[in-house]
Amino acid sequence: MVLLLLLILALLAVIVIFAFPAVSPIPYYPSRHRDLGLIAQAMDLHDGQTVVDLGAGDGTVVFFAASQAQRQRLRIKFVAIEINPILVMALLIRRLFHPAKKNIQVVWADFFRWQPNPANERVFYLYGAPWLNDKIANRLRQFPGKNRLVSYYYPVAGLTAQQRIQGINRIFVYQLGRRRQQ
Ligand SMILES: C[S@@+](CC[C@H](N)C(=O)[O-])C[C@H]1O[C@@H](n2cnc3c(N)ncnc32)[C@H](O)[C@@H]1O
Repeated sequence: MVLLLLLILALLAVIVIFAFPAVSPIPYYPSRHRDLGLIAQAMDLHDGQTVVDLGAGDGTVVFFAASQAQRQRLRIKFVAIEINPILVMALLIRRLFHPAKKNIQVVWADFFRWQPNPANERVFYLYGAPWLNDKIANRLRQFPGKNRLVSYYYPVAGLTAQQRIQGINRIFVYQLGRRRQQ
């Protein structure tokens, strides 16, 4: 009886965490597996980069890209930011078994509050939402350094894509300069 009650409570907690926009303002959908190679290509993986997945979900993209980097012997840091505690647990468990785990950092945070460590060159990956992408991009443009944004599925309003790649879904690549003073 107690076990059943605990199970129901756990199930309710999962429903609340996944269903309430206050906990997870963008719903969890993983990027399509068949697009992962194109996403890694759009990231233009090379030595010295930091790759940040803004809302990493279960790590579909970040772990794939980290495997690619390891295969090519590239020195790249990966940061998986996620707000949903259940997905953070999944990320931490998957990280434990990943061969490049020492290069992968899992951060439980709201990406609107997260502050990056200094880095020469960052690539942000975002599978966001049309109503939020421009707000996210504006925040990213405040960060110093040479930064790019790879946006899956949805373009960013107000920014011109440097590159567009057609997979099952579209992939947009943006150079993130600071906004000019009006
Ligand atoms: C569409 S899914 C993309 C998952 C993963 N990036 C992928 O492409 O497979 C969006 C993810 O962003 C997370 N998320 C939404 N708002 C967030 C926020 N403010 N801070 C951190 N993560 C957030 C959600 O919990 C969800 O896992």
